[in-house]
Amino acid sequence: MAQAEMTFPADFLWGTATASYQVEGNNKNSDWWVWEQDPGNIANNHKSELACNWWQNAEADLDLAAEMGTNAHRMSLEWSRIEPEPSVFSNDALDRYRQILQAMIDRNIEPMVTLHHFSNPLWLVEKGDFDSDIVVEYFQRYTDRVVSTLGNLVAKWITINEPMVYFYSRYMEKVFPQPNNSGMRAGIHSLRQMLRCHAAAYHTIKDKYPDAPVGVAKNFPIIEPRLDGNRLDHWWASRISRMFNDFWLDALQDGRIRWPFGRGKIKNLAGSFDFVGINYYTRFYVKFPPGKDVIDKQWGPDALVSDGNYGEVYPYGLYRAIKHVLRYKKPIFITENGLPDARDKQRPAFIMDHLRQIWQAISFCYPVMGYYHWSLVDNFEWDRGWTQRFGLIALDPDTQERTWRTSGRLYSEICSSYKVSSDMAQRYAPQMMPVMFPGDPVSVAESQDL
Ligand code: FCB
Repeated sequence: MAQAEMTFPADFLWGTATASYQVEGNNKNSDWWVWEQDPGNIANNHKSELACNWWQNAEADLDLAAEMGTNAHRMSLEWSRIEPEPSVFSNDALDRYRQILQAMIDRNIEPMVTLHHFSNPLWLVEKGDFDSDIVVEYFQRYTDRVVSTLGNLVAKWITINEPMVYFYSRYMEKVFPQPNNSGMRAGIHSLRQMLRCHAAAYHTIKDKYPDAPVGVAKNFPIIEPRLDGNRLDHWWASRISRMFNDFWLDALQDGRIRWPFGRGKIKNLAGSFDFVGINYYTRFYVKFPPGKDVIDKQWGPDALVSDGNYGEVYPYGLYRAIKHVLRYKKPIFITENGLPDARDKQRPAFIMDHLRQIWQAISFCYPVMGYYHWSLVDNFEWDRGWTQRFGLIALDPDTQERTWRTSGRLYSEICSSYKVSSDMAQRYAPQMMPVMFPGDPVSVAESQDL
């Protein structure tokens, strides 16, 4: 039977994403390592330990990424390895990163590199963290060293991963390693300093590699008023969405800081991004006045929820996020998207339905250029330890044994063929047929059965 197909452009990037602390193992100079040792900070008191053993053998997983048929990977660098003491750079660490980047290139996998993904050198914490005056200069020097030694191997750059999540998790939820001063004033100042770090890093990269695209990875939840919310809830949802979703990108666009994070302009910030990276996972509901948590995990009775109440599966939200950032008139990459699903019950349908949203966007000529699935392999999920499994490939952290999940096979078929087809839907997630391919004879027959 003829199959229906959603075809993607020939230059589309099919990727996976990881972050250094989550996969490398033994990152003992990072603030996370110390944080992990205190009982109660990480779910089940899990430890990252060897993580996915990338520091020794990233190549083994890159072999799997190549076997999967991906042509891109987003990784991050561990500042605390590259600069273990202030102004002391480790050539060994830089050499190892060169090897890892070269291993990607050798496998036809294009590297996208993040400079900061949630983890700080211990010395930076002592010096006052992102709340300090010195951080911008140190971040600029770190970037400069990285770009001079690794720059020729890096296709695309991201400065700081999910700055608003970082701010929220440290200064509001307090579930990430705590800076010495964890008060709200310090938090707001740290956000402004992160913007300055971003601007400094952007220009440092562009000075050496003017053509290298430099962007952001912005977590972009859909934020809605609570179900049956009143006018105040609606008003509040739009305020929170503006603060959480728009503040950072708007600041990069025109260089201005807005309420409630301050006022005024930051030098060299305006226009300092070449693409928008969307990290999309879920939707949140808020109510006014807010409870203890500003963002509620509350959903309707029919919502599909991933493991551990992580979040509602809401694929259309990805389309909404893409549409929202069109205003910046930049190329768009989906720099993270995935779900915790140890038994892989929902992931095949999740992948297909989220790719359908991207395909829809592309068919309207919205400039979505690539997709990086979080994650290639199960890894250490920050405060949630090993309790959440995001991998296309399962990992047993004790034995380091890898096992392909069915969704990994599906993603492999998609990456290799540049399409999502009704044949794949039938084989991997037949329940998606009427949703994704409503006109298909199989869907029609099935819906008649119902
Ligand atoms: C994102 C983080 C990433 C990973 C996923 C599940 O917010 O950037 O490191 O933890 O969530």
